[in-house]
This record gives sequence, structure tokens and C-alpha cells, in this order.
Amino acid sequence: MRSTLFRLASASAAAVASVSAALVTSAESSATSYDAIIVGAGVAGNVVAERLAASGAKTLLLERGPASTAKSGGKHFMTGWTYDDIKNAYERVESLNPGTTTPSGNGERYDYEPGAFGLFSSLLGSEGWSHVDAIEQPNEKHLAYSYPPQNVAAGEGIRAGPPHVYFSLALENENFSHQLNANVTRVIRNGGLVSGVEVENEDGSYSTIGLNEGGKVILTAGVFGTSRLLFNSGIGPIDQIETVANGTTGITVPARKDWIELPVGERIKDHPIVTLLVDTNSSDFTFFNNSALYLDTPNATNVDLYNNEASGVIAQSQQRILAWTSTTGSDNITRHIQLTIAGQQDAQLSVKVYLTHGLTSTGRIAVESNGTLSWAQEPWYNTEGDISAAVNFIDEFRGYLEKSDTLQLVPEQRNQSSRDLVLGGYGTGLHFAGSAVIGEDNDGRSVVDLDTKVWGTQNLFVADASFHADVPTGNIQAQVAIMAEHAATKIIGCKV
Ligand SMILES: Cc1cc2nc3c(=O)[nH]c(=O)nc-3n(C[C@H](O)[C@H](O)[C@H](O)COP(=O)(O)OP(=O)(O)OC[C@H]3O[C@@H](n4cnc5c(N)ncnc54)[C@H](O)[C@@H]3O)c2cc1C
Ligand SMILES: *[C@@H]1O[C@H](CO)[C@@H](O)[C@H](O)[C@H]1NC(C)=O
Ligand SMILES: *[C@@H]1O[C@H](CO)[C@@H](O)[C@H](O)[C@H]1NC(C)=O
Ligand SMILES: *[C@@H]1O[C@H](CO)[C@@H](O)[C@H](O)[C@H]1NC(C)=O
Ligand SMILES: *[C@@H]1O[C@H](CO)[C@@H](O)[C@H](O)[C@H]1NC(C)=O
Ligand SMILES: *[C@@H]1O[C@H](CO)[C@@H](O)[C@H](O)[C@H]1NC(C)=O
Ligand SMILES: *[C@@H]1O[C@H](CO)[C@@H](O)[C@H](O)[C@H]1NC(C)=O
Ligand SMILES: *[C@@H]1O[C@H](CO)[C@@H](O)[C@H](O)[C@H]1NC(C)=O
Ligand SMILES: *[C@@H]1O[C@H](CO)[C@@H](O)[C@H](O)[C@H]1NC(C)=O
Ligand SMILES: *[C@@H]1O[C@H](CO)[C@@H](O)[C@H](O)[C@H]1NC(C)=O
Repeated sequence: MRSTLFRLASASAAAVASVSAALVTSAESSATSYDAIIVGAGVAGNVVAERLAASGAKTLLLERGPASTAKSGGKHFMTGWTYDDIKNAYERVESLNPGTTTPSGNGERYDYEPGAFGLFSSLLGSEGWSHVDAIEQPNEKHLAYSYPPQNVAAGEGIRAGPPHVYFSLALENENFSHQLNANVTRVIRNGGLVSGVEVENEDGSYSTIGLNEGGKVILTAGVFGTSRLLFNSGIGPIDQIETVANGTTGITVPARKDWIELPVGERIKDHPIVTLLVDTNSSDFTFFNNSALYLDTPNATNVDLYNNEASGVIAQSQQRILAWTSTTGSDNITRHIQLTIAGQQDAQLSVKVYLTHGLTSTGRIAVESNGTLSWAQEPWYNTEGDISAAVNFIDEFRGYLEKSDTLQLVPEQRNQSSRDLVLGGYGTGLHFAGSAVIGEDNDGRSVVDLDTKVWGTQNLFVADASFHADVPTGNIQAQVAIMAEHAATKIIGCKV
């Protein structure tokens, strides 16, 4: 059944906006041209733009949105993408945007002990799980729990990601420029050679921005945005390109002889989440309402702590304990599980159960004639192996709760089978990947080559979560940044 993607991922930075029905009549050419145009200023886009500018390329970063910060089934060990290959990329991200389990600048943890951390560390500890530091012991992902790791900006101590740290760095570079409210509609190409991009401006006018000779366009518009740009540019499954060409968006699709047939949008993965609600009668737990931090008149003590020394409860995220383990499905394939635990209301906590690395379900998107993207197949729990793995884990976890004196599932959930909890209750993890998968050969299973260059083109690249062939064990953002760092090295090294 089709459901619109927008509804499912409405909070997503990569949420898909439909392409307008306006016809492109006169697109004005911008006077300036660039060595590198990066489309989409999200996690990957900021990393790649900073790297390209520092390499000496005259770089333009385009973003359809307004300013976001105060300043503004794959193969696993492909040549050039092993752990050793990406180590430098990891180290650069780590140096600029490190992780910490004490995000509060003064090193204190707020509302932790006894609290949710205390309750669940004793529950899991009594079942043989170990307390680890997820940053110091990244490979401990079986029967392990940790204080939640957060990314902070090096030197500033505030919680932040690549759109803050990399953008700040890029702004200092004479070779870097950027434009907000610049909604790219397609890349302009002649056969395999891309000459620029077409942009819909805030006032509804269109312009084209050109590349210098030897220049490159890098798509970092997110898993959905990048797919749409590829479809609009005549790259993807033939039926998707045909739908755009036949449709009402007014996009100028290349002539059919120039269509490049590639499996864009066909192998999308995400972490599905099942939320378990757990009642407690322990006086150790006091509900802290994280949402109330963002009210019009927030608690002044907390605001001052944060503004003056990047400390206090605002410096933290809402989760109080994270945990990981692995479990096997009916197909004997091992899947990882991540748990994130937070307060839900008075005397109640939420335990989010993510099915992660090892999952086998994939989804497929389709473009509608009006440019809206929808699921042709949703990417969650469509294999029995995934379902049974999650059911096995939830059965085990319920066993823990049954032995607990202080914690138990809410009555509505206690009443349901684990299978019903999984199939009736999952939602998106918003950790999408895999709409333009990387591969060694143009064998119909991949969209980009080992330099992240789109097959059949000379100078079009994809550097965001789209090219990831798989989902990670934990949350995905750090991996998107690291892979974008590594992709930037490959792209800089690519002669057009
Ligand atoms: C609500 C939410 C919470 C999340 N929480 C976490 C978390 O706690 N930890 C974690 O690790 N991950 C989290 N994620 C996932 C993480 O944000 C994404 O995996 C990551 O942002 C993907 O990076 P990207 O560069 O591929 O795409 P994005 O960061 O989505 O960047 C794409 C950018 O391209 C722009 N764009 C799209 N189309 C166009 C166009 N046509 N023209 C111009 N610009 C365009 C978009 O506006 C956007 O800025 C969360 C995601 C969501 C939605
Ligand atoms: C991007 O452009 C499309 C039309 O091409 C429009 O529907 C959408 O709202 C625009 N998005 C933004 C953020 O301007
Ligand atoms: C900008 O690019 C030029 C080459 O075009 C290069 O010499 C210079 O070092 C670059 N500047 C920065 C700050 O990276
Ligand atoms: C597009 O239009 C052509 C010609 O009318 C038609 O043959 C084809 O089936 C259409 N394809 C799609 C996907 O709508
Ligand atoms: C504000 O926060 C401080 C520190 O967390 C706390 O001691 C105080 O009780 C809070 N005040 C209100 C009105 O919630
Ligand atoms: C799963 O693995 C076990 C032991 O390794 C083996 O006995 C069993 O046959 C396997 N089952 C499947 C479905 O492959
Ligand atoms: C948390 O605070 C928000 C904002 O005031 C409020 O809307 C919400 O109902 C509160 N949640 C609970 C469980 O009290
Ligand atoms: C596009 O069409 C789909 C149905 O095919 C519809 O659900 C959606 O609302 C339409 N979007 C717009 C912006 O018209
Ligand atoms: C709460 O405490 C009572 C007795 O102290 C116990 O019987 C009951 O099971 C506990 N309830 C929960 C939700 O753990
Ligand atoms: C649990 O299931 C029984 C039998 O189906 C039903 O009567 C009861 O109302 C359910 N309780 C809850 C809390 O859902």
C-alpha cells in the first residue's frame, strides 16, 4: 500500500516537498560559475563543501531551506572503503565534532542517578549486561549499556553537528560561498557531462548556475531529495523518469536517449522503532519533562547554566541510558538492537527498541506525477527474519521486566503478544540510507562507483546518506559525516 512519504517523515530535514507545477519558462543564468556546486546543506553537504573549498575549488553550497543555525544488500568491504581507508576521515570528524557522555560543560550529569539510568542499569545489570563507555568502547555492542553519547563542537563545548562545525569552518574560506532558499530542481547535463544546476528561487523565478570546465556537482540533498534530483535529471528506474517526464511538475527531463537507467530509490533502509512503555512505582524516578525546556518561559536557572557555561540539563538530550545487544532471526542472520530510554510521564518511561545493523528489509520509493514521493514499498519489517529477531528480543526483555519489582509494561502492552507489539507498533527511526547505493560494478545494483560518481556520468557525485549500502548499529549521523569526509577525498582526487 502506498502512503505518502511526507506524512511518514514529516519532521525530517530530508522531508520531501513536492515539485511545483510551474513551467520553467525563462531561466536566467548566473554570472558566476563554480568548480564545485554542492546541493543540500545538511550533514554531508557541509562536510563536503568545506573540504572542496579547502582543496582550492571555487565552491558553492546551495540549500533550499532558510538558515538552520545561529550562523546561518550491499557489499561491505569495497576497495577504498575499508575501516583502514576511512580512518583519516573518522579522525577529522572526531577532531572537529567529538562525542562525549558528559555534554554538560561542568562535567555533571543531571537527572541521572538514581533516575532512569539507575533503574535500567540495575535491570540490565542483573541480566548480565555490562556498563560500558560507548565512546571509549565502540565495539561493545552486545549486552552493553552506556550513558548516552552526544556530539559537541570542539572548543565550544556545545551540542552540535556538522552543519554547525563544518559550516563555521567553511565560512572562513575565501573559496566558499553559499545561498539559502535556493531550491535546486535538477542538474543540467549533456549526456554524461553535467554543466550546472537549475534553481528555483524564493520568488518563484528560475536560474541556472554553471560549472567551470572540469567542475563537479555533488548531491547531498538527503536520501529523498537526492533521489528526486536524480529522477528529475533523467537518472533512475525508467518508469520513475517517465513519470516525471509525463507529469505536471514542468521539469525539463533530458531526451529519452540520454536517460541513465540506475536503481535509484530501490534499496532504502531505516531503523524501525517499537516503543515500549514501562510503568514504575520506584520513588527513585522523577519525571523530567524535556519538552518543557523549550517553552516560551523556560526555567531561568537552566537557561543561565546553559548560556553561561554550556552546562545543565539543556546541554543533554532527553535520553538517560542507551543500550545495545544482538539477536538472531529465523533466517539465522544476526541483527543488532539499540535501546534508548527516556522519561515519558510521571511514573512511566519509554524504551525505544531499534532494529539496526543486520536488518534485511528494504524499501522502494516512487515519484508521483505531481512530483510527490511515496513508498512503493515501505522499508520496515518486510522480512520474517527481521520480525522474528525483534520478537525474540522483546520476549527476552519482557522476561526481565517480569522479574522486576519496580518496572513493568503498561497494561495495554502487557496484554499483547510481542509479535503484535512489533507489527502493530513500529515507526520510522528517521535514519534512512541507501537510495543511491555505492558499488564496485555498474551491475544494476548500484548507483555510484567507488568515487561516489554516478555511473554513466563524468562529474556528478552523491555524498550523503543515499550512497550508504547499509544502516549502522547506532544512530546514523556520525557515519554520514565520516563517509562524506571520505567521499570528499575521493571527489577531490577525481579528474573530470
Ligand atoms: C527529526 C530527526 C531526528 C534525528 N535525530 C538523529 C539523532 O539523534 N542522531 C543521529 O545520528 N541522527 C539523527 N537523525 C538522522 C540524521 O539527521 C540524518 O541521517 C542526516 O541528517 C542525513 O544527512 P544527509 O546529509 O544525508 O541529509 P540531510 O542532513 O537531510 O541534508 C539534506 C539537505 O538538503 C536540502 N535539500 C533537499 N533537497 C534540496 C533541493 N532540491 N535543493 C536544495 N537543497 C535541498 C535539505 O533541506 C537538507 O538541508 C534524525 C533525523 C530526523 C529527521
Ligand atoms: C522547492 O520547490 C518546490 C517546487 O519546485 C516547492 O514545491 C517546494 O515547496 C520548494 N521547497 C522549498 C523549501 O522552498
Ligand atoms: C583557495 O583556493 C586557492 C586555489 O584556487 C588556494 O590556493 C587557496 O589555498 C584556497 N584557500 C583556502 C583558504 O583554502
Ligand atoms: C508516459 O507516457 C507515455 C506516452 O503517453 C506512455 O506510453 C507511458 O506509459 C507513460 N508512462 C508513465 C510511467 O506514466
Ligand atoms: C529550575 O531548575 C532548577 C535546576 O534544575 C531546579 O532546581 C528548580 O527547581 C527549577 N525551577 C522550577 C520552577 O522548575
Ligand atoms: C541456523 O544455525 C544453526 C546452528 O548454527 C543450524 O543448526 C540451523 O540449521 C540453521 N538454520 C537455518 C535456517 O539456517
Ligand atoms: C511536557 O511539557 C509539554 C510542554 O509544556 C507539555 O505539552 C506536555 O504535555 C508535557 N508532558 C507531560 C507528560 O507532562
Ligand atoms: C500529489 O499527488 C498525490 C496523489 O498522487 C497526493 O496525495 C498529493 O497530495 C499531491 N500533492 C500535491 C502537492 O498536490
Ligand atoms: C509496586 O510496588 C508493589 C509493592 O510495593 C508491588 O507489589 C508492585 O508489583 C509494584 N509495581 C510495579 C509497577 O512494579
Ligand atoms: C486485555 O485483554 C483482555 C482479553 O482480550 C481484555 O478483556 C482486556 O480489556 C485487555 N486489557 C487491556 C488493559 O487492554
